[in-house]
Amino acid sequence: DRSIKIAPSILSADFANFGAEIQAIEAQGCDWVHVDVMDGHFVPNLTFGPPLVKAIRRHVKTFMDVHLMIAPVDPYIEAFAEAGADMISAHVEAGPHIHRTLQAIRAQGVKAGVVLNPATSLDTIEHLLDEIDMVLLMTVNPGFGGQNFIRSGIEKTRRLRALIGDRPVHIQIDGGVTPETAPLVAAAGADVLVAGSAVFKGGSVDKPEVYGENMRAI
Ligand code: DX5
Ligand code: ZN
Repeated sequence: DRSIKIAPSILSADFANFGAEIQAIEAQGCDWVHVDVMDGHFVPNLTFGPPLVKAIRRHVKTFMDVHLMIAPVDPYIEAFAEAGADMISAHVEAGPHIHRTLQAIRAQGVKAGVVLNPATSLDTIEHLLDEIDMVLLMTVNPGFGGQNFIRSGIEKTRRLRALIGDRPVHIQIDGGVTPETAPLVAAAGADVLVAGSAVFKGGSVDKPEVYGENMRAI
């Protein structure tokens, strides 16, 4: 199934209103809910840890995709799995033993994703393709919402789709996804699109139809 899934990033939602925000985007037809965990060390920003992810989980009826921008990763895998993640994604740049990390994620009964920063080569995941459910290609430098899309991600997506072949591995794109950039990465072979500012801009929990319009435009 290669139909395009939309995964709004709640990094751009109202942090004091996660329950209502998640209900609003799900009512408007989002496929997954993307949760950005940042540690102020691997990336220059701080968001939230396992207790808040667990609280968010209670509102998610679709699929909760947890993007870890933390180092180290391994000491926290169990906590994020217990918090209710359906998928946990870890960066290849976060440590020397990404293979072990991905095995540890799957051992928790959770789907495993591997993430590449914009400058990281596809060579780094060539030998991981049978250990994962998704590759996440960053099309901004991680840490913040609302940045501009890095265009080298389009050709990278095309090459990754060829590398994956017929394996059941999703390609997720994260960063600067808008109605303008989404068709470019979808045509190159991406099937899960994260969008933060493009989904939440102009909307609110009182006007959820704006979120819906934004998602349909993507
Ligand atoms: C960035 C995060 C993204 C971010 C995307 O580090 O991983 O998920 O929320 O935001 P936009 O869609 O605004 O670029
Ligand atoms: Zn993300």
